[in-house]
Amino acid sequence: MINEMQEYYKHRATNYDVSMGYDNESTIYSQQPVIRYLQESFKDQSLLEIACGPCFWTQFVAKTAKSILATDYNETTLVEAHKKNIDWSRVSLKQIDAYNLPSFPQKFTGAFAVDWFAHVPLSKRHKFLSNLHSCLVSNSEIIFCDQLPGNNSLTGNYDHEGNHLQKRSLPDGTIFTIIKNYLTENETLRLFKEFSSNIEIKQFPESKRWAIRYKI
Ligand SMILES: C[S@@+](CC[C@H](N)C(=O)[O-])C[C@H]1O[C@@H](n2cnc3c(N)ncnc32)[C@H](O)[C@@H]1O
Repeated sequence: MINEMQEYYKHRATNYDVSMGYDNESTIYSQQPVIRYLQESFKDQSLLEIACGPCFWTQFVAKTAKSILATDYNETTLVEAHKKNIDWSRVSLKQIDAYNLPSFPQKFTGAFAVDWFAHVPLSKRHKFLSNLHSCLVSNSEIIFCDQLPGNNSLTGNYDHEGNHLQKRSLPDGTIFTIIKNYLTENETLRLFKEFSSNIEIKQFPESKRWAIRYKI
């Protein structure tokens, strides 16, 4: 299922921003609370971004962060990111598998990912988080921001380990099955309290998103 998800986003890269409405002023306006939250949280920080996609969020976070290493499994998404008008003196792009993080020359002072954590299979969450944390200095802040479920988001379909499954299709009609685990607040607190005693969960209903921010 992970391979299918990676394949899906590889082929969706060229129309990802448009399909999300990220080319549309009213969508960008609706995301301002999330954008401001990320910008304020990460002022002057050296950040590792996981699963950056075509860097919609990166372009805004880069305005206040010291630097961002924006990473994604799919080169196709980074090609799209390159086309953006981003301050490239602060942002570098690198193709990296979130489940196989390399050892970086320097530790980061923060990390974030938007619309990523819900795609992490239950069986990979713990190792992914431990590996991510090992790339960060102590007292680093981490934010995962994901979509709130809409009226038709929950399919009732699950795989053998309990991951919630959704069907997604590309403009050419190809259909993919992907993991999309919508976390409740209680599940989130249960999962992250092992790693942090400083956790904040925030809802952004107008942006149809929520975020967990914690310190390690
Ligand atoms: C829902 S998109 C989010 C993209 C971006 N964060 C955004 O919100 O615009 C999920 C991203 O995860 C990336 N991805 C999938 N599997 C990955 C992996 N194993 N490691 C890193 N990135 C991965 C996909 O290529 C895709 O860009």
